[in-house]
Amino acid sequence: MNTTVQLSRTDDIALLLINNPPVNAISSNVVAGLIAAIDRFELDSEARALVIACTGRTFVAGGDIVEFDDPAFSAKPYNGVLARIEGLSRPVVAALHGTTLGGGMELALAAHYRVAKVGSQFGFPEVKLGILPGSLGTQRLPRLVGPDLALDLIMSGRSIGTADALTAGVIDAVFENDPVQEGIDFARKLVATSAPVRPTRERTVVFSEATAANFRHAQELAEAQALFHPANLAIVQAVQASTLKFEEGEALEAQLFDTLRASPQSRALRHLFFAQRQAARIPGLPKDLALRPMHQVGVLGAGTMGRGIAMNFLNAGLPVVLVEQTQLALDNGIAAIRQTYEASAAKGRLAPADVTRRMALLTGSLQDKALASCDLAIEAVFENMELKQQICARLGAICKPGAIIATNTSTLDVDLLAQASGRPADFVGMHFFSPAHIMKLLEVVRGAQTAPEVLATVMQLARTIGKVAVVSGVCYGFIGNRMAEVYMRETEFLLMEGASPADVDSAVESLGMAMGPCRMLDLAGIDVGAKTVIEYEKAGGLPPDGSYRALVRRLFELGRFGQKTGIGYYKYEGRTPLPNAEVTALALELAQTHGIDRRSDISRQEIIERLLYPLINEAAKILEDGIAYRPGDIDIVWTAGFGFPHHQGGPIFMADEISLAVIAKRLTHYAQTRGNAFGYWSVSPLLQSLADRGQRLSDFQGEF
Ligand code: 3HC
Ligand code: NAI
Repeated sequence: MNTTVQLSRTDDIALLLINNPPVNAISSNVVAGLIAAIDRFELDSEARALVIACTGRTFVAGGDIVEFDDPAFSAKPYNGVLARIEGLSRPVVAALHGTTLGGGMELALAAHYRVAKVGSQFGFPEVKLGILPGSLGTQRLPRLVGPDLALDLIMSGRSIGTADALTAGVIDAVFENDPVQEGIDFARKLVATSAPVRPTRERTVVFSEATAANFRHAQELAEAQALFHPANLAIVQAVQASTLKFEEGEALEAQLFDTLRASPQSRALRHLFFAQRQAARIPGLPKDLALRPMHQVGVLGAGTMGRGIAMNFLNAGLPVVLVEQTQLALDNGIAAIRQTYEASAAKGRLAPADVTRRMALLTGSLQDKALASCDLAIEAVFENMELKQQICARLGAICKPGAIIATNTSTLDVDLLAQASGRPADFVGMHFFSPAHIMKLLEVVRGAQTAPEVLATVMQLARTIGKVAVVSGVCYGFIGNRMAEVYMRETEFLLMEGASPADVDSAVESLGMAMGPCRMLDLAGIDVGAKTVIEYEKAGGLPPDGSYRALVRRLFELGRFGQKTGIGYYKYEGRTPLPNAEVTALALELAQTHGIDRRSDISRQEIIERLLYPLINEAAKILEDGIAYRPGDIDIVWTAGFGFPHHQGGPIFMADEISLAVIAKRLTHYAQTRGNAFGYWSVSPLLQSLADRGQRLSDFQGEF
């Protein structure tokens, strides 16, 4: 029996109720239920109007994305029942609440009237999944709100609230109480006033000259992005087709939708949608675990990271105590925070009152004892093991019982720091990415003894401050920087062999990487990068290879820290990177010192393979070692933290698309051609065995 859709009647008003938790997504089962319900409604001559509403937390939040992977998926049955709803001769009211998105909007647009609970959200987020609305959203929305707003909403994927929806004509009225009762009341009024049916499809769309110009501009932009974001161009074309006969627009939308749904870009984005939700889950943790309280946060160190970290909590309304060593460093840190807020306010992104409110939540201190009242204390001092051990011991002594102690270390052994604190159960890694108030990723590093509720509290806190959190085990660099290490290693070898920073950067940027490795390190700070290598060496982690990351260490010695000193891999005019002859000379000198052959035949493909295949190989080792819970977590780390292109789905998804067999073969090729004295090219046993069996790394399931 289909329980997802129920049809009932109260007096002369019929009610169609969708009940498909958690978000009432339109699955094939729901479509079948809708068809059966409309069949019954058509036969019920006593019903004078139909109300469509949903149970639970929201109206329909979209088509069921899980089903899009099925090659046999078709939007036709849903589109067919929407046409029948729109074609009914008795008024149909959609009573909306929560998030009416995608396929949910398409259902609402097929109704003749729409009413919504105050605080609801409306939108077409399909573009974020690399598709377009496939159930006539591109045809009905422009007919209802005009082509310009329709294009804006569908292209941006942004949601609007009830006030904007009312102004735009998306909805007819706003209510405050129960959607079902309010929908029925509204329908009763329609019946009482003999209000007409209003099929959206019967409206016409006419382009003014300004609209035509707007669409031409959108088309140009979309054409430039077509390689990575084919949905954008399809959206312009489909919305433009709303000027045609409804059936013609319908046919074009269907064809574009099917093409996009099967595209690698959309499959990658859908993979990330589910991977992100999976990443929030910690295997083995009871759901009802009591979390630790979180009313005040302390941050030790007001440098680059400490400032950004503090802002996350201030933005979320949590009081922060910021501790530094000197008055000057503290003043600088606080001034930088204020400046960031004021710059946002000047751009209109923040209300002046919010600047005041957030700054009022911030207290500075030169006494680490000020952290005693905090529920969480995060250290963000220099990346140095001895210093951090001292600091963690101090935090262990100062912080109140039950407080969580966290380190923002990029690479150091969290278990050693946990031991130093004397409270390893309270200890956890919270690895923010620079700029910490902007980058979405938070790597949560679980130590060997981190208490389950500490982990769960930090994951919840990550949600509160709007971060995408991924749990990592303890190893050098955790998930992200451990993989970045091999990527940077090959970058430097390529530079010493004769490639330029621009050659290297442009090769990976051609895949859609936000920034190549040289520009990335110049931005993050060559000093920051070099310090991690130096610490790694101290910890005995480096291979006995004198040429290993020799260039970054040399640049560090010379005080070439990247953008902050105006010179690093590149020379900077403002933020514009320019070629830097000094790096060319240094790379040559180091190649000679270390006996590295210089070459003039380094191709773009070689750069891509040498940067990305070891990184993928390292990801497989991370899974073998049980450092990441699941493959998707690694894809989230790289897309949310390292500018890896979302439309490639992350390194693991990309590897599966290329095929593991090809990757294993090329790694072996480089082992043979470049030599493998230090194991740089040794294929991970996991990767090799999956490649041999023709399986995907994305499907790997570890044991926890
Ligand atoms: N299909 C399948 N499952 C979905 C879904 C969808 N459209 N939307 C959400 N879910 C699932 C999530 O995977 C999650 O499952 P889990 O609990 O097993 O991990 C659960 O619903 C709850 O989702 P969230 O954790 O994201 O809950 P939030 O409350 O934070 O957010 C939301 C709710 C705003 C609805 C958010 O889930 C969201 O943005 N969903 C996607 C909306 C979307 O993209 N809609 C368009 C789909 S494509 C479409 O409609 C095509 C059409 O034109 C034919
Ligand atoms: P930074 O050098 O900008 O700031 C460190 C701050 O700590 C300085 O202001 C210093 O005065 C302060 N400090 C040192 N000892 C202290 C003490 N005993 N008490 C109080 N304050 C003290 O360094 P940055 O870049 O902010 O790095 C901090 C940590 O964050 C490091 O562990 C680093 O590895 C990590 N990290 C850095 C990232 C980056 O891109 N900069 C990214 C992610 C993590």
